Amino acid sequence: MDFGAIARERLPELLRAMPKAELHIHIEGSLEPELIFELARKNGVALAYPGVEALRAAYAFTDLQSFLDIYYAGASVLLHESDFEAMAMAYFRRAAADNVVRAELFFDPQTHTARGVAMADVIRGLASACERAQRELGVSSALILCFLRHLSEEEALQTLHDALPYREHFIGVGLDSSERGHPPEKFARVFAEAKRLGLHRVAHAGEEGPPAYITSALDVLKVERIDHGVRCLEDPALVRRLAAERVPLTVCPLSNIKLCVYPEMAGHGLPALLAAGLCATINSDDPAYFGGYMNANFLAAFAALPQLGAAEAYALARNSFEASFVDASARAAMTVRLDQVFARFA
Ligand code: HPA
Ligand code: ZN
Repeated sequence: MDFGAIARERLPELLRAMPKAELHIHIEGSLEPELIFELARKNGVALAYPGVEALRAAYAFTDLQSFLDIYYAGASVLLHESDFEAMAMAYFRRAAADNVVRAELFFDPQTHTARGVAMADVIRGLASACERAQRELGVSSALILCFLRHLSEEEALQTLHDALPYREHFIGVGLDSSERGHPPEKFARVFAEAKRLGLHRVAHAGEEGPPAYITSALDVLKVERIDHGVRCLEDPALVRRLAAERVPLTVCPLSNIKLCVYPEMAGHGLPALLAAGLCATINSDDPAYFGGYMNANFLAAFAALPQLGAAEAYALARNSFEASFVDASARAAMTVRLDQVFARFA
């Protein structure tokens, strides 16, 4: 492919048009304020904000925890199976508009079961949206059950146990919520149990936590992808290992700016990760809270980082297919679609 033949002015159009996989999206983080208030009214849930504008105005975060406090408050309006389905369908429509062809969705069952919502309602609602996404929008998808790391491993084990009747509806487990002070080692047993059950494994590591958390996520939890992972750049030996083992990193540019992981996009580590040969991908994390969905993340990163051009756009989309948990034939089909779009631009 002659990437040099693609003019820089056409990059935004190319970024929007190219097929891509989203591998780091917390579905509860796709709840837009309008839907939060609609569900709050319908379900009779009281919110601490008078309206949509006041809620949006509160989206000024200083770190991960300041975001999580509002994120869990927003999720409190989800009560019924149909609420989970509506939330995920709204996400899938936006994903399809951004030419996302595959989405692997995180969900946080403990955020809901702690409020008395049944595990069945959470998983059935999300699974039915996944089926509709394929049928109505042509978007392939899967669910990844995340454990909240600020809670105990016993609670994580109980959550996995409670979800097993719905095993067919999720493909893996993840680890999210407050990272600092909650190292991967805390969840060694539940991840071993997930591996024994044939589930995929991923974990947030190296967002706010140190590079050592990335190493222990790989060595202790046996994860197949690292979510965020940008702090690996502080440890050159770790960067070499991640490159050699092709461990995917699901990087979230707008999230990193909103949560002050980087002070500004111009200083983001994404170009360094790609230059080091890592399997880095671009994702939206919590798009309703961080200022945009997939294409907004691509456009913001490429606008601020002149090191990123057509070759990097191609690498990022290819990496997203390589890192996804689809089978080889689906991966090949997505890559063919990618090549077709690039051929139109070259
Ligand atoms: N980091 C950790 N936990 C989360 C995030 C995140 O970016 N989003 C939702 N839960
Ligand atoms: Zn995340």
